[in-house]
Amino acid sequence: MNIFRVKDYQALSKKAAEILLEEVKKNENAFLGLATGSTPEGTYQEMVQAYKDGKVSFASVKTVNLDEYEGLEGTHEQSYRYFMNKHLFSHVDINPEQTFVPSGVAQDIQKELEQYEQRIRSAGGVDIQLLGLGHNGHIGFNEPDKVFSTVTHRVELNQRTLEANQRFFASYDEVPKFAYTQGIGTIMTAKKILLIVSGKDKREILHKALFGEVTPEVPASILQFHPNVVVVADEQALPEIPSRV
Ligand code: F6R
Repeated sequence: MNIFRVKDYQALSKKAAEILLEEVKKNENAFLGLATGSTPEGTYQEMVQAYKDGKVSFASVKTVNLDEYEGLEGTHEQSYRYFMNKHLFSHVDINPEQTFVPSGVAQDIQKELEQYEQRIRSAGGVDIQLLGLGHNGHIGFNEPDKVFSTVTHRVELNQRTLEANQRFFASYDEVPKFAYTQGIGTIMTAKKILLIVSGKDKREILHKALFGEVTPEVPASILQFHPNVVVVADEQALPEIPSRV
């Protein structure tokens, strides 16, 4: 595990964008795994800027996102499809047909989820998967559980996640209670994983995820078993790196 501890959110965004863009510069057909939430917003801003400055092209890049809320159309302002268009896709030269986010409203959900999983598996996993970290240790929408989830599936979101997501909706009742997410098994097929974590409120869970017991009660702890993980965290989230790392 390679850990970069940076000063603040701005430095985190620059470093994370640099790591993602390295993959695209190395391979113009790169398959990127993307995430939503507040943490990657700055990273996407940096990527858009690099494109505008003529430093990178996304014309042949393919992307797949981690998750989507059940019941939200891609045109809904809180859907993850809308988020990705708003923060990244509509500002760069990527082919929209090569960007995949699970459909929140597919007629045949089982088929949609199987196809989604297959798309990732048949490529042998994404080249790099960007991840944020939930306050309860979730990655994607894989909530704390008794076992690690395997493939792309439907999940019931837990109380902590619903409360955290409420800030984006007019009321708690409007927060979707179910979502579709890549499984932990799917995420672990990524050739490289980039975990970005910012802020004091993530300090305790980040420490557990990186240095604690590997347990499905802290889903992100599974990353300790992945051979190629890069963590970029700011000083607020990671005040120190224990010496055994
Ligand atoms: C988003 C996702 C979630 C978030 C996590 C952290 O696609 O899968 O796991 O990464 O909830 O969210 P923020 O960055 O808003 O704290």
